[in-house]
Amino acid sequence: MTEPAPLRVALITGAARGLGRAIAEALAAQGVALVLVDILADRLETTRAELATQGANCTAFTTDIAIKANCTAAVAYAIATYGQLDILINAAGLMRFNHATDVPEDEFWRIMQVNAAAPFFLAQAAIPHLLASAGNIVNVLSQSALMGTAYIVPYSMSKAALLQLTKSLAVEYAEQNIRINAVAPGAMMTEISTGTRPPADADYAKIKRYSGTRPPAEAAQVAAVVAFISSPAASAVHGAIWPADCGVTAG
Ligand SMILES: NC(=O)c1ccc[n+]([C@@H]2O[C@H](COP(=O)([O-])OP(=O)(O)OC[C@H]3O[C@@H](n4cnc5c(N)ncnc54)[C@H](O)[C@@H]3O)[C@@H](O)[C@H]2O)c1
Repeated sequence: MTEPAPLRVALITGAARGLGRAIAEALAAQGVALVLVDILADRLETTRAELATQGANCTAFTTDIAIKANCTAAVAYAIATYGQLDILINAAGLMRFNHATDVPEDEFWRIMQVNAAAPFFLAQAAIPHLLASAGNIVNVLSQSALMGTAYIVPYSMSKAALLQLTKSLAVEYAEQNIRINAVAPGAMMTEISTGTRPPADADYAKIKRYSGTRPPAEAAQVAAVVAFISSPAASAVHGAIWPADCGVTAG
């Protein structure tokens, strides 16, 4: 008789919808228990209930990760619920189109808080538990971390910061039994751009440079990459930035 695989527990931010939800589904298929985190309470509860109906072992924690104390509380909730944490997936994100000169200060800081600061504070809270479980972190970047992307300058800056969080943590924890990686998606047909449109006078040739020549990926295609990197099968992958952009950053 083979031993059952040990329980693995993942905390996924941005799990109410889009890529975060697709990652939750991919990890549930691997038998990973899930702590789903998002600011959208109703949407998160719907996702949790649907995943549970499909057989997932999952729980939900509604919070605004832009506040450090909420990041700490989310990790504490995961530990209180399951007693361990094996995987942290930083998938929550915020994007707004604007001319750089028109970006309001509050919009700039909100993007930085959600996309860059929250993953840092979540990692800060999670690392002691991930060291205990020989776990790992996967940060969801964007092709915007790897190339200049017009009209979304704060977003691009925030994703570049998340890239350096990934690499710098990987170096700081080089000797320890923890893996820290990132996946950099290109366009997916999700709701991140709902409520934001390029400026009316935008030069679309500049947007086309990062729109790609292939159709946008399905969230499930990118989620499969994240799920692989977070799995024991990727045990040699540490400090990696893995594009999943259908070739956009190839040049
Ligand atoms: N869709 C794309 O084209 C694309 C391309 C590259 C990278 N990405 C990245 O993929 C990730 C997932 O985005 P998506 O495409 O699924 O979009 P999405 O908008 O559907 O998902 C983002 C999720 O993050 C949550 N979120 C935002 N602010 C939050 C906060 N303060 N606290 C808690 N949760 C918060 C949202 O409620 C939402 O559920 C993001 O990091 C995004 O930057 C997306």
